[in-house]
Amino acid sequence: MFFTCDSANIHHILSKNFSNYPKGSEYRKIFDVLGNGIFNVDDELWELHRKTTMSIMSHAKFQILLERTMWDIIEKGFRPILDAFAKHGKIFDLQDVLQRFTFDSIAKLLLDHDPRSLSIDLPYLPYEKAFGDALEAFLLRHIVPERIWKLQKWLRIGKEKQLIQACEAFDQFIYPCISRKQEELMMHKSTIKDEEFAFLDAYVTMYNQWNDGDLGTLQTFLRDTFFNLMFAGRDTTSAALTWFFTLLAKNPSAEKRIREEIQQQLHVKEDENLKFFTKEESRKLIYLHGALCETLRFFPSLSLEHKVPLDHDILPSGHHVSPNTRIILPFSAMGRMETLWGKDRLEFKPERWISDRGGIRHVPSFKFPAFNAGPRTCLGKEMAFFQMKIVSATIIHNYHIQVVEPENISPTTSIMMKVKNGLMVKVAKKV
Ligand code: HEM
Repeated sequence: MFFTCDSANIHHILSKNFSNYPKGSEYRKIFDVLGNGIFNVDDELWELHRKTTMSIMSHAKFQILLERTMWDIIEKGFRPILDAFAKHGKIFDLQDVLQRFTFDSIAKLLLDHDPRSLSIDLPYLPYEKAFGDALEAFLLRHIVPERIWKLQKWLRIGKEKQLIQACEAFDQFIYPCISRKQEELMMHKSTIKDEEFAFLDAYVTMYNQWNDGDLGTLQTFLRDTFFNLMFAGRDTTSAALTWFFTLLAKNPSAEKRIREEIQQQLHVKEDENLKFFTKEESRKLIYLHGALCETLRFFPSLSLEHKVPLDHDILPSGHHVSPNTRIILPFSAMGRMETLWGKDRLEFKPERWISDRGGIRHVPSFKFPAFNAGPRTCLGKEMAFFQMKIVSATIIHNYHIQVVEPENISPTTSIMMKVKNGLMVKVAKKV
């Protein structure tokens, strides 16, 4: 294994010599449950996935759907829960609530189905928890020899057992959703409302375009595709938001500045409810944007990336790597390096993301790879910022959050950087 935090190496691997560092068979083995989804494939199939997903996500109708879906879930699911907990002075796990929020919103967005995991009684839905349970197994697969985890998988023991159960739970949720949506589309094709342009349609077309015949059945392909997108959009955003509130608890002056920025830029008075703003308006929240980037610098949701070169190569640092080298890019360590961030690297400073002209400072992605870098840069970055701004502005303006036992906060040992055992908080209503 070769670990590197050198940003020139990161640039080389993720961008300059991209074709020598595919996801490859090693990655596919570790993340086998992702099947033929975008995260797991290379070459033409990846290009087709990327083109299809990008064309949907950059569509004007998608932007409208995104705004409507997010605010709908905030108003019908998220706020009623916070209001109820505030009324009863209940201590609850904010990370769990945020995960439910991102799960419901991504399911509604992709499949037009709201699982309503954000109900007042916080129901236990095995498929909603499935992702979290699966993640620790992925990290272990990076560390223990392949034959060991394969044996554990075969015996259905340890983290491998959790992973199998998580996939079964997820499949029981996703297959009926896909079938329902397919039936709906077949029956009402002519009466589909304009804004209901469907992800599903685009991926069915993609499947039909693919001639190699190695994608399995249409149902399996759609399952893989949606599994990947839900995996991409659920825990990443909720983990970042959870860490954001842990950092704000330690930096009240930053919270005050965010509150003032919300009032000024969104023209909302201190005693008025903040109910809606568009994606375009969210771009004005520059300091909040800086605070979210600063959060992802300390706690990149995906804490590492792993690559195996196709061919021998010499990295900019002078190190030789070969197809036998497993290269680990520890994004979480990069965010804390003095050579990259200076002497004040351990301070939470949203200002470092603001340019002299008051806009958002451009920081190259090979220095800040929280959203990856190069041709495989995250496709949901803009969506994630919008989602994170809606949730954080709603909470900061309308409520006061108090973290209970902040000294007990530590990260999970997982490729997804979450707060171990959740983030226990109390909430009070401000307006
Ligand atoms: C704070 C939130 C997010 C973070 C930190 C994040 C980070 C990342 C990272 C590091 C990758 C590269 C993973 C790899 O190649 O192994 C990635 C890829 C991706 N992300 Fe995100 N992501 C976030 C939210 C989202 C959201 C909301 C979506 C929307 C569905 C999304 C969609 C994707 C997709 C489709 C890819 C695959 C790109 C490709 O391989 O070409 N992400 N993201």
